[in-house]
Amino acid sequence: MRRVDYDTEQYQNYPRGRALTEQQLGAWITAFAAALPERRPLVGLDVGSGTGRFTPALARAFGPVTGVEPSVRMREVAQAQSQRPGVRYLAGSAEDMPVPSGSADYALMFLSWHHVQDKPRAARELARVLRPAGRLLLRGNFSDHHPEPWWLDHFPRGLEVDTALFQPLHEVIAMFTAAGWRVAGFGMVTPPSDGTRADMLERLHLRTLSFFARLSPDEVEAGLRSIEEAVSGDPGAPSPALSEPLLTLERR
Ligand SMILES: C[S@@+](CC[C@H](N)C(=O)[O-])C[C@H]1O[C@@H](n2cnc3c(N)ncnc32)[C@H](O)[C@@H]1O
Repeated sequence: MRRVDYDTEQYQNYPRGRALTEQQLGAWITAFAAALPERRPLVGLDVGSGTGRFTPALARAFGPVTGVEPSVRMREVAQAQSQRPGVRYLAGSAEDMPVPSGSADYALMFLSWHHVQDKPRAARELARVLRPAGRLLLRGNFSDHHPEPWWLDHFPRGLEVDTALFQPLHEVIAMFTAAGWRVAGFGMVTPPSDGTRADMLERLHLRTLSFFARLSPDEVEAGLRSIEEAVSGDPGAPSPALSEPLLTLERR
């Protein structure tokens, strides 16, 4: 299983391959708002901000946001695509953030936690940069709470390789608890559908899922062919909505 190098792959196609509709983005912002204090502005960090899928929407909803992102290319795409007042992008990682201690009210990690190499260090660093009672919104994948999209079955080793990378929820919680956090909430968020199955197939062809890096090229090709056959029978069928886990942690 190799690491995804976002400086050489995915960055060009990521905004199209992982596009969110306005309705999906709105559902996430509503879920984040429910886990955050009501006062505004809130100072935010989008840790592993990638191409800035969420960063501008966070700024609009809550206040100034810093996207912290280790990949130069992903940051370049974010800067080109999503500039707006109250948004900046800095080089850094969850383990090493270029912001002062106690300077943020919340941090979002959206599908970036599983890329973090030194997780205990990141849990301590996230606690450093948040104010007391600051919140971490962790949209992670957990091996025991794993969303299973309709197309995953078309890759025979799909579920096995996709879950192998993720820790069970209790392990993630234990690590954060040891680093000065407490659980403030856990729930599933169900944003509206991605569109049709044909829309989803088009996005899968862009290969902007780290899941593909865990399969051989032949397995990816065979899986995509199998999905094409299934979709060709009814391309306009809706892609079912997915329930996705959101863990909220509070810095003690
Ligand atoms: C699947 S993308 C998610 C990007 C964005 N959060 C989103 O939802 O579109 C994962 C991102 O995590 C970043 N990443 C990798 N290692 C990281 C680390 N140690 N700390 C923070 N982010 C990291 C990658 O460079 C990549 O941009």
